[in-house]
Amino acid sequence: MKIALLGGTGDIAEGLVLRWSKAGHEIIVGSRSEEKAQTITDEYKEKLASLGIEGQITGMANADAAKAAEVVIISIPPEYAASTIESIKDSFTNQVVVTPVVPMSRHEDKAFMFEPPEHGSCALEIQAALPETARLVSAYHNLPAKELSQVEEDLDYDVVICGDDEEAKAIVTKITEDMPTMRVLDAGPLKLSPMIEAITPLIVNLNVKHKKHFSVKFV
Ligand SMILES: NC(=O)c1ccc[n+]([C@@H]2O[C@H](COP(=O)([O-])OP(=O)(O)OC[C@H]3O[C@@H](n4cnc5c(N)ncnc54)[C@H](OP(=O)(O)O)[C@@H]3O)[C@@H](O)[C@H]2O)c1
Repeated sequence: MKIALLGGTGDIAEGLVLRWSKAGHEIIVGSRSEEKAQTITDEYKEKLASLGIEGQITGMANADAAKAAEVVIISIPPEYAASTIESIKDSFTNQVVVTPVVPMSRHEDKAFMFEPPEHGSCALEIQAALPETARLVSAYHNLPAKELSQVEEDLDYDVVICGDDEEAKAIVTKITEDMPTMRVLDAGPLKLSPMIEAITPLIVNLNVKHKKHFSVKFV
C-alpha cells in the first residue's frame, strides 16, 4: 500500500517506515520541509540498504504526502497534530488516517500524566479537524519508538486499535500484521481512544521507575 507518515522524520515514524519498507510497502515521508523529508528519506534508504533491503521511499511536504497516500499516519506531537491537519485539510479525501498521538505531559514531581484536549482524546480532536470522508483509526500509541526502529527484532506486542469504519480497521490490521509478530486487538469504536492513549503515560512511568522498556501484551 502507499503509506504516508506526516512528521515522518521523527522518532515513532522511523521504525514504522523501516518495517513497512521491509514488508514491501511504498512509503512517503512527510515533513513541514520538503528538503528535510528528502534528507531523512535518504537516511532511511541507507539503513535499509545496510540490511540488504531496497526501500521504495519518497520525501515530500506533508500536504503532498497526505494527498498521494492510501493510508496516512499522523506522527506529530499532540500539540500540533490537529492544527497541522487543519492546515492541509484539502489533501484529505477518503484515506485511512491513523493517529498514534498521545496527549501526555510531565509534572513537576516527574510523573507522566494523561492530559487530553477538550475533545476528550487526541483521536477525537483529530477527527474534528479532518473532513468527514476521511476514515480515522487509533493505533500504535503503546509502541516504543526505540524498539520499533530495531527492524531485525520481531516484536511480540499487542496493538490495540479502535475506530468507526470497519474497512479502515481491517486495512490497519493488515499493515500492522505485516510487521512481525505484532497482534492487533480491535477494541471497538473511536470513542474508546482515550483509554488506549492513557496506557502510554502508565507505560512510561513504569519504564522510568523500573528501568525497563515495557509495551503491551494481553494474556
Ligand atoms: N516516540 C514514541 O515512542 C511514541 C510512541 C507512541 C506514540 N507516539 C506519538 O507519536 C507522535 C510522534 O511522536 P514522536 O516521538 O515521533 O515525535 P517527534 O519525534 O518529537 O516529532 C515528530 C515530527 O513531528 C514534526 N513536528 C515537530 N514540531 C511540529 C510542529 N510544530 N508542527 C508540525 N509538525 C511538527 C517534526 O517533523 P518535521 O520537522 O519534519 O515537520 C518531527 O520530526 C506523538 O503524537 C506521540 O505522542 C510516540
